[in-house]
Amino acid sequence: PRVLVLNGPNLGRLGVREPEVYGHASMADLESAATTWGKELGLEVDVRQTDAESEIVGWLHEAVDAGAHVVLNPAAFTHYSYALRDAAAQVTTAGLLLVEVHLSNPATRESFRHYSVVAGVATGTVAGFGFDSYRLALSALAAKLDR
Ligand code: DQA
Repeated sequence: PRVLVLNGPNLGRLGVREPEVYGHASMADLESAATTWGKELGLEVDVRQTDAESEIVGWLHEAVDAGAHVVLNPAAFTHYSYALRDAAAQVTTAGLLLVEVHLSNPATRESFRHYSVVAGVATGTVAGFGFDSYRLALSALAAKLDR
């Protein structure tokens, strides 16, 4: 199975941006870790990052057309992008899995981070475990596909 691991705005700054919140490792480190975890789980993982809402919406359309599952860290779009929510809804409506992930636990942070417009159309959510949020998401996805 194919899995697109999609990352939203400012996540290209991983390692530089607020390391006390997001850690010291980079997006390139995440890409290699996620690719390795995918291989162990029998998943073909493709990791991408963009700061542009239109690009991430396009990637969600691509997932639907390609029959690919999605691990999605919508970053700040989580909290306000109805365009992203509508695109994410098409993935799960198509019978594909979509796991929302966050490095931090938004529920413990500023109140504007407490609400996710994406959560209601996701298969499930993993938050608060740093890079392990992605590992847990991939492993949950593989387990669900095995059932
Ligand atoms: C984030 C949490 C969001 O609130 C924030 O805007 C991000 C990253 C996370 O992975 O913890 O950019 O999605």
